[in-house]
Amino acid sequence: MSKADDTVISMTQDPAGAEDAPPFYLPVGDEIALFEKAHAHRIPMLLKGPTGCGKTRFVTHMAARLGLPLFTVSCHDDLTAADLTGRYLLKGGETVWTDGPLTRAVRQGGICYLDEVVEARKDVVVVLHPLADDRRILPLERTGELLEAPAGFMLIISYNPGYQNILKSLKPSTRQRFLALEFDFPDPVREVEIVARESGLDPERCKPLVLLAGKLRELKGQDLEEGISTRLLIYCATLIEAGTPFEQAITCTMIEPLSDDPDVKSGLVELARAYLG
Ligand SMILES: Nc1ncnc2c1ncn2[C@@H]1O[C@H](COP(=O)(O)OP(=O)(O)O)[C@@H](O)[C@H]1O
Ligand SMILES: [Mg+2]
Repeated sequence: MSKADDTVISMTQDPAGAEDAPPFYLPVGDEIALFEKAHAHRIPMLLKGPTGCGKTRFVTHMAARLGLPLFTVSCHDDLTAADLTGRYLLKGGETVWTDGPLTRAVRQGGICYLDEVVEARKDVVVVLHPLADDRRILPLERTGELLEAPAGFMLIISYNPGYQNILKSLKPSTRQRFLALEFDFPDPVREVEIVARESGLDPERCKPLVLLAGKLRELKGQDLEEGISTRLLIYCATLIEAGTPFEQAITCTMIEPLSDDPDVKSGLVELARAYLG
């Protein structure tokens, strides 16, 4: 068995049944209508934005809303083209072709969502090209098949532009195949609603946390590499709702995950005290 055979792909398939309500997603603009148009017109989408701002939730919501199976792949630099398309595997003494997540999405007419696509090597990303223009085909050399993507099929890629460097970026020939949408953290009013809804904490008690997050986000680029995510805010509110002492909840969700530098951390603690009393 080759090393690639051991590669673990985080793949989720959610055959969203009609009876399953889509997961909660609070729109911040007209992204739902845009996604629906892109899907109807067979245009692939690129979602850019910081970690924990709602990209994955948006995609899971839209897949359920449109009743499409969703195949998610978390990209990394060991990912091979075969991890996406498929490979022959030994099963009971026989070699059997096994579809990868991309191939399954094409065959089933679902959504293939490649998260953190800049982590994948460029020669792997090129596999997407014939699916991401008007050909919408997937050639499978190993089986000799040429799959034509059905109407339901949609390709979505995402990455965090904040982490980009020259080695890790998308080729223009890749990015210019996608309709691109920039995501950011929700405005404070919406973020309070999201945090309250996801954590169960009273909105009034979520408000100061969201305000503090706004202050912490202003430090991005100076002391902090990345602003605090909506995800961490939800963790914080969840802990508080579960009875965790306030200071401890703040420390382990809004201070420690952001920095390892003692000076930066004590600065953050001061800021938190000033805001939360
Ligand atoms: N607009 C939104 N509506 C509902 N929940 C949201 C929204 N934005 C963020 N969230 C919450 O924040 C969490 C993190 O978002 P996620 O989609 O995983 O981030 P990303 O994929 O951008 O890293 C989600 O699990 C969800 O609870
Ligand atoms: Mg994500």
